[in-house]
Amino acid sequence: MQISFVAPSDATSRGEGGTWVVGAVEGNALLPGAVRLDKASGGALTRGLKFSRFTGKSGQMLEVLAPSGVKASRLLLVGLGKAEALDEKSLETLGAQIVGRLYTAGETAANIEIDLPKDSKVRKAELAAHLAFGAKLKSYAFDKYRTRNLDEYEKKLKTVRIVTPDLAAAKKAHAGLAAVADGIFLARDLVNEPPNVLYPAEFARRARAQLSRLGVKVEILGEAEMKKQGFGALLGVGQGSARESQLVVMQWNGGKKSGKKNSGPIALVGKGVCFDSGGLSIKVGAGMQGMKGDMAGAACVTATMLALATRKARVNAVGVIGLVENMPDGGAFRPDDVLTSLSGQTIEVLNTDAEGRLVLADALTYTQRRFKPKLVIDLATLTGAIVQTLGYEHAGIFSNDDQLVQRVQAAGRYTGERVWQLPLDPFYDKMIRSKIADMKNIGGANSGPITAAQFLLRFIEKDTAWAHLDIAGVAWQDGEQKPTIPSWGTGWGVRLLNRLVKEHYEA
Ligand code: BES
Ligand code: MN
Ligand code: ZN
Repeated sequence: MQISFVAPSDATSRGEGGTWVVGAVEGNALLPGAVRLDKASGGALTRGLKFSRFTGKSGQMLEVLAPSGVKASRLLLVGLGKAEALDEKSLETLGAQIVGRLYTAGETAANIEIDLPKDSKVRKAELAAHLAFGAKLKSYAFDKYRTRNLDEYEKKLKTVRIVTPDLAAAKKAHAGLAAVADGIFLARDLVNEPPNVLYPAEFARRARAQLSRLGVKVEILGEAEMKKQGFGALLGVGQGSARESQLVVMQWNGGKKSGKKNSGPIALVGKGVCFDSGGLSIKVGAGMQGMKGDMAGAACVTATMLALATRKARVNAVGVIGLVENMPDGGAFRPDDVLTSLSGQTIEVLNTDAEGRLVLADALTYTQRRFKPKLVIDLATLTGAIVQTLGYEHAGIFSNDDQLVQRVQAAGRYTGERVWQLPLDPFYDKMIRSKIADMKNIGGANSGPITAAQFLLRFIEKDTAWAHLDIAGVAWQDGEQKPTIPSWGTGWGVRLLNRLVKEHYEA
């Protein structure tokens, strides 16, 4: 789908051979574009309103087909809700809802002319840019494995023009968001890709192919190198797989060089279990379905690096992802094994299905020791229990730094990718004490997401500000609960992290 911005002066031909989209705020107050269109069509909208329950509430739509007096194939009046409540997030939803409606209609082209209502806090350029961003997010599809009935799945809408008075400003505001959309699409593709295709080495290749052309330095460590360095926890997980484990290190140096204290990069660390069978503690059939998505944390980290590099963010950022496949075979690690992690701490494995924390442990140690980052955020589809706790609306956040939590929470409210804080406490740490090693990898039946986070905390070095996001509930979706989010891989986290960087860590 092509999205462009056009000036109102161009808009005489608007809707020609396509849909002409205009807006109204709550209380049926037609915005100027809608008033003009109503006149041009001999009152088609005002007449239509009489036969409709449309009141201008957010997301409502009124459609008039084949109107007389104008060349458009249809008119679409969309509700913006209350002007004061309009924000970037709701504009994205609106852009997505419009595109969704036009997909259903089978429309091929549209001009969207939605004026900024009085009393709105958003700027005109932002309105256009965020409508475009939402429209773009809705256009995502993962159809590469379909070979039949392609027509049924085809999204016919190919051209979307957004009418805006300030073209230059809109294009500028949109450039950063387009980079984020590219990242989100990459993350969704990685999560959606089946595990026979996307195994660790293939993930690493794709990360390098996508990022190095943007000026990101990409290094890939294989098993021999990791063994030499002592990645005993990560390698333990991958040991039962026919596929080689990998660690990918991505560096984007868009910020200032400086030798000052606390001037290290921001670090993103991702769990990349390309398939989680549970290992010898094997999952039951239904629980194993979807475990190709157990690399969503790594996908988000890779995608955020792509977004930052694409928009040339003035920040130094490093992304580190641990890529493994958790499989049972004669060489697999066992419950009762003791692994020595890169940090030197020993781990008694009591359940091979609690593997994500093992992968993260070594990735976290490596990242902190090599880069001395000013903060570390890890993302992982770590526990089923976080899905039961927070469902699909919030990721869980655990942290040793209150300011970082507040910043992530604020970024989450702005982007709609929300997080909810859960506690860390020595009480829970006691639950992972081992009878024979420094710790065990499970904490018992209760408070699963918390004991998992306590485990990670043991690999956080003194003075490192750290936050852990458990994204098992938000990384993929079966239905389409939100207009901007497709089924399966959601690309969750890219918007959030991009916003966090933009607000707080860019020069
Ligand atoms: N990858 C899973 C977590 C998961 C479950 C993500 C469901 C998405 C949906 C993780 O590796 C896992 O298996 N966790 C176990 C931990 C337990 C063995 C302590 C779990 O949640 O059951
Ligand atoms: Mn598991
Ligand atoms: Zn897992």
